[in-house]
Amino acid sequence: MELHIPVILGTARKGRASEQVAEFVVDYLQDSIDTLSSELIDVRDYTFGQTYEAWNDHPDVPGINDWKEIADNADGYIIVTPEYNHGYPGELKILLDAAFTEYFDKPVGLVGVSAGGFGGARVVEHIKPILVELGMTVMVNATYVSHVGDTFTDDGSVVEDKRDKIQSQLDDMTDELVRYGQKFNQLRDEPS
Ligand SMILES: Cc1cc2nc3c(=O)[nH]c(=O)nc-3n(C[C@H](O)[C@H](O)[C@H](O)COP(=O)(O)O)c2cc1C
Repeated sequence: MELHIPVILGTARKGRASEQVAEFVVDYLQDSIDTLSSELIDVRDYTFGQTYEAWNDHPDVPGINDWKEIADNADGYIIVTPEYNHGYPGELKILLDAAFTEYFDKPVGLVGVSAGGFGGARVVEHIKPILVELGMTVMVNATYVSHVGDTFTDDGSVVEDKRDKIQSQLDDMTDELVRYGQKFNQLRDEPS
């Protein structure tokens, strides 16, 4: 059974380093696992400018229904989020709040990105309860990209001495996502 796991790039900031990370993760998913497909969801394409509650229709807001459809069709998600003052970007919250039931019983893996040495560990912990409230199950294995400017080269690959660490974190997170994704697909098919 093929699983579709979109990668959400969680910042619209001009000059964002997280874009390289998100592109790397999409390539990794597409190239390394036969039974998995992915796509990059750029929060910049869904900056609605304000919060729109998921339980009402907003036909005049471009992108909202597209996002709901993407969220609904996904078997799970990976969120690449930078750490901004120990939290996650506001535009990511606006995107997440625009859907709700579409997320239920789906696994989510987290990739924290920081200029500092903690690899976004604080934002990874910070966002977990929000994702739980949205009905997702958060994977224990996360990926932490610290000193992002020194981790990726201009062509978007990971520098030699950091490759093993990032690769092994991504492997563990993806294994867990696939395991949960398959089980949760069965669960969602069962009558409630
Ligand atoms: C508003 C703002 C707050 C930030 N706060 C933190 C922080 O709390 N910890 C940290 O390690 N880096 C922090 N940074 C640096 C980001 O981690 C850095 O920009 C990194 O490249 C990832 O974010 P980016 O994708 O926007 O580039 C902050 C950056 C911005 C723009």
